[in-house]
Amino acid sequence: MNKITVKTKEERGKINRHLYGHFAEHLGRCIYDGLYVGEDSAIPNTRGFRNDIVQALRHVNIPNLRWPGGCFADEYHWRDGIGDDRPTRINMWGNAPEPNTVGTHEFLDLCEQLRCEPYFGGNVGSGTVQEMRDWVEYITSDYDSTLSNERRKNGREKAWAMPFWGIGNENWGCGGHMTPEQYADYYCQYHTFVRNYGEIPMMKIAAGLGGSDTNGEATAIFMDKVMNRKHPVRMDGISIHHYVYLPDKPEHSATQFGEQEWYTVMQGAHLMDHIIIENSKVMDKYDPDKKMWLIVDEWGAWYPVEPGTNPRFLYQQNSMRDAVVAALTLHIFQDHCDRVQMANLAQVVNVIQAMVLTEGEKMLLTPTYHVLDMLKGHQDATALSLDVDFETYSMGDKSLPTVSASASKAESGDVLLTLCNLHPSQSAELNINIADMEVTILTGTILVGDEITAHNTFDTPDRVQPTAYHGATIEDRNTLTMTLPTASVVALTMR
Ligand code: AHR
Repeated sequence: MNKITVKTKEERGKINRHLYGHFAEHLGRCIYDGLYVGEDSAIPNTRGFRNDIVQALRHVNIPNLRWPGGCFADEYHWRDGIGDDRPTRINMWGNAPEPNTVGTHEFLDLCEQLRCEPYFGGNVGSGTVQEMRDWVEYITSDYDSTLSNERRKNGREKAWAMPFWGIGNENWGCGGHMTPEQYADYYCQYHTFVRNYGEIPMMKIAAGLGGSDTNGEATAIFMDKVMNRKHPVRMDGISIHHYVYLPDKPEHSATQFGEQEWYTVMQGAHLMDHIIIENSKVMDKYDPDKKMWLIVDEWGAWYPVEPGTNPRFLYQQNSMRDAVVAALTLHIFQDHCDRVQMANLAQVVNVIQAMVLTEGEKMLLTPTYHVLDMLKGHQDATALSLDVDFETYSMGDKSLPTVSASASKAESGDVLLTLCNLHPSQSAELNINIADMEVTILTGTILVGDEITAHNTFDTPDRVQPTAYHGATIEDRNTLTMTLPTASVVALTMR
């Protein structure tokens, strides 16, 4: 029997809604033939962006969207994407022609349609300090300057607010193959000249050394070099990336896998906890009050592409396995909500662990999308402490907790408890104590497939979708018992 005590009087701080952020890169069919179809398309759109996708993303309260990359950002020159005369470049992702139709104005229009905050990534790898500072002035300045007037001439009178600005991306790899020491010097230089001219504060975010830096060693070198200089610069956040990456082998398919591959993916997702703990320890040394955000601005499960598609376009299907990865990962973020304040699932449409897939005019919502919908009540709610005693799910000498859970209290007083069962062939019995609360109303939603590989296709777009869950019983005023089916995600709302 698995046991949970939800301590409704033990509050752990706010769960920043930005943990539920997304990522849209000029990669494959994420932007073109994904979010953007052009104004002349027969697919209903607003200034070129698909209405059905915008509606779907608004429904899950998308809080922010990171753009234009990724690796693409370090080859992106913002002037290519403004004005009437836009050059076509070669996109490093598959050498696809990049028409630059979607540039600064169009992307910020999309964010306004989505009612979400923009998170831009500036080019450190192949750009210049001047180029980046000018881009920020162009976007954020309401002064009478040449750059502000150029923006006005291009159709935008009022400056935009830019709350999040990334200084480079994966500088250890596609961002320039730098050492942590080298990037620390670049970070300080760019930080100095990238000025926000708007009234809303802009966070400057260092591209951390994530990826293989599981133990935070590179983060330690980088922070030491930035913070221990005679005149240290401010750092608002450090980003790290963690993918569950399965290289190209037949058994690594997104939709055809056995228990071994299921387990490998769960383990990879669970590693996020360790990565956050180790990077947080490094940050605690310099920032014990936890003012600096740890930002996981790329995460997700990355598999070989769908057969017959361009390997560099990273188009993959999305099954119940990914739904469980999404719930588990978001729970881990929430468990560290004092330090992890923002995260971006990679990527929003048609790339890696996508929320939305498209084919011509057709669009489908993936199991991952449904998890973000079921968990959205956690956004900006107060995290509650949990005492847990979970059974173990083992394979060989490896073991994982069978269940993952997270709870929060909304301003309305409603308590949301979300759970997932990591086991692909055994349901989990749970005994739940809701301390200091008399449970009167209990509604539940479940996401579960008819098999662990279940996924939505353009012919069967509703095969995996949330349904009402009636498997929890209130035993007395604050004790519940329930069965969590194999490989499922459940959301319970209590009052
Ligand atoms: O999300 C795809 C790629 O993964 C991004 O461009 C890069 O930052 C990471 O390696």
